[in-house]
Amino acid sequence: MSLLLPILLTLFFLFGAEKSSAQTDAQPLVFQPTLEESTRVRAIAQPVAQTLLRTIREELTHALAKEGPVGAISVCQIQAPALTQQVRDQARPPGAVFSLKRTSNRLRNPADAPDPAERQALQIYLEAEARHESLPPDLLQKVVTEGKTTYRYYQPIRVAALCLSCHGDPATLSSGVKTLLRERYPQDQAVGYKDGDFRGLVVVGLTPP
Ligand code: HEC
Repeated sequence: MSLLLPILLTLFFLFGAEKSSAQTDAQPLVFQPTLEESTRVRAIAQPVAQTLLRTIREELTHALAKEGPVGAISVCQIQAPALTQQVRDQARPPGAVFSLKRTSNRLRNPADAPDPAERQALQIYLEAEARHESLPPDLLQKVVTEGKTTYRYYQPIRVAALCLSCHGDPATLSSGVKTLLRERYPQDQAVGYKDGDFRGLVVVGLTPP
């Protein structure tokens, strides 16, 4: 009897410790979806990614023409809840899209940092770019985290002339833009791009369709 308590305590700590370390180390398993899964996921996610990128571009074009780059600086965000919500609401079937994000290997907003599955996707695009190959038009992943399956749909984002007043060569940025970037994004890495460069990925997260 006097031995039972220490044994129970030891067991508790062993299993307790094992469980918590398994939780913190939980890495997602990333698979290539089957052709059939890809077709279903793409049908839902492709229009969502396209609408999002088109809307940001249109709003930027408007704001740049009206207010110049300093006035337009807050437009290049998808955190803007109204826009994200609107794009998600339009997706069919309703509720299938649970997340919308842009990410990059050269971040402006640290909140856009890639998670492990997104890092794998970025790596594929960065390697293609480094080899001067054409970039895949999209990429799909089946992600299993702690037994739960979700899908990710990615589309590359490229830099266009329109983007250069805020993401171009630092020597050509206006002093107003530079000051704002320094204040709001002290660790900004998203400058120095040229027209046509790979800028990052739009990521649509889906529940199994
Ligand atoms: C008027 C300035 C401005 C212009 C023009 C602009 N951006 Fe941005 N961009 C920003 C700012 C500011 C952020 C950080 C937004 C935030 O805090 O969420 C950003 C963030 C991003 C991100 C998210 C990843 C990250 O680094 O945080 C991507 C991708 C991006 N921009 C791509 C583009 C592309 C492509 C264009 C051209 C079509 C463009 N931007 C034009 C200011 C601009």
